[in-house]
Amino acid sequence: MKFFVDTAEIDAIAELNDLGMVDGVTTNPSLIKKSGRDILEVTKEICDLVSGPVSAEVVALDAEGMIAEGRKLAEIAENIAVKVPLTWDGLKACKTLTDEGKMVNVTLCFSANQALLAAKAGATFISPFIGRLDDLNSDGLDLIEDIRTIYDNYGFETQILAASIRTVNHMSDCAKIGADVATAPPAVFKKMVEHVLTDKGLAAFVEDIKAANISIL
Ligand code: E4P
Repeated sequence: MKFFVDTAEIDAIAELNDLGMVDGVTTNPSLIKKSGRDILEVTKEICDLVSGPVSAEVVALDAEGMIAEGRKLAEIAENIAVKVPLTWDGLKACKTLTDEGKMVNVTLCFSANQALLAAKAGATFISPFIGRLDDLNSDGLDLIEDIRTIYDNYGFETQILAASIRTVNHMSDCAKIGADVATAPPAVFKKMVEHVLTDKGLAAFVEDIKAANISIL
């Protein structure tokens, strides 16, 4: 499973990228707002840093506007994936932009039928939002499973980009289901390394190293 980082914070992306953990980046208008940066400037910086796909979201709501914005965003760098919402206009923009050879990430997906439409429109990525479904007492992971089944049934090449990830369990569950990509905030990646038994085991080793005066160099 590929790891995308869900942020527009350059330092956080750079830190994970140095560890080889970053296969791509996703941003959205809320993350751009949070960064306090100009969308074109910060997106360019991210694209310079990361070689994998960098999702940058359009702000227009009509297909024509999304297509024009998508073309402008795609000029920033070759690794831009234009992000469009899952509406009819978004799907129209998706079809036009993918026909032009651009990567397109169709976002705000909350049902298997929406994911089916996005695949038919040629989306490079579909972004089902797990956490926001969980917030409504609906199981976001069930949606990832349903989309996996449907895409595999018909050989759709659209990649399932599990989004709105809130917990470390979301990450391992997505990997078990077979999501192609999971995008998560930096804090979730940091938490993935943690285990109480690792801490406990290491503390015991440190005690024994001291007691037996073990040294290597
Ligand atoms: C991904 O592309 C989305 O922007 C993101 O995962 C949304 O997550 P949220 O529901 O935590 O805002």
